[in-house]
Amino acid sequence: MSRISIIVYSQSGNTAKCAGWIAEGAAAVENTEVRIFNLKEDPNPDKDYINSSDAVIFGSPVYSANLSWPMMQWIQMSGAYKLADKLGACFTTENSPDGGGGELAIMTMVSMLLLKGMVVYSSGTSLGRPFIHIGPALAAETLDQKADLCKTYGERLANKAHALFDK
Ligand SMILES: Cc1cc2nc3c(=O)[nH]c(=O)nc-3n(C[C@H](O)[C@H](O)[C@H](O)COP(=O)(O)O)c2cc1C
Repeated sequence: MSRISIIVYSQSGNTAKCAGWIAEGAAAVENTEVRIFNLKEDPNPDKDYINSSDAVIFGSPVYSANLSWPMMQWIQMSGAYKLADKLGACFTTENSPDGGGGELAIMTMVSMLLLKGMVVYSSGTSLGRPFIHIGPALAAETLDQKADLCKTYGERLANKAHALFDK
């Protein structure tokens, strides 16, 4: 059994929508359990569930060309949560389809996950199409066209969690 947590901050629903698709893809992998936590609704998400997860996926809206401050605050103040040695992955949503800062936001989150001792993964381009480079950085206006890509991302992350942590 692999347990996956998806932690998002989603003020107006876009990032939460992507989290739902990612969860759907991950849950389609046999023996995988997924829960989504929106820091907007609960800034103190279920510690036992997260600490016992094999993978934690972080989703943030882009604020000022980087990750949102509530997500940054949560990661920085997450000392009570055990993130070390878990699979980590990131995604973002943004308004601009022309480079609003989504990739910088992902890379900032990646550096924070490395600091926490997480094993960071995106599947990269290694698994072919759809190519997922450093993680989905999705523009709001074309979000609904990216449901399948998000499901694939979730499926790949779940498969990697099983490959790394199944006994
Ligand atoms: C304070 C603030 C700053 C933002 N800054 C950017 C930005 O720099 N680039 C961009 O493309 N979108 C920016 N946006 C738009 C959000 O990233 C976008 O609407 C996102 O999908 C919202 O996610 P949510 O619906 O999950 O809250 C900003 C939104 C807010 C509220």
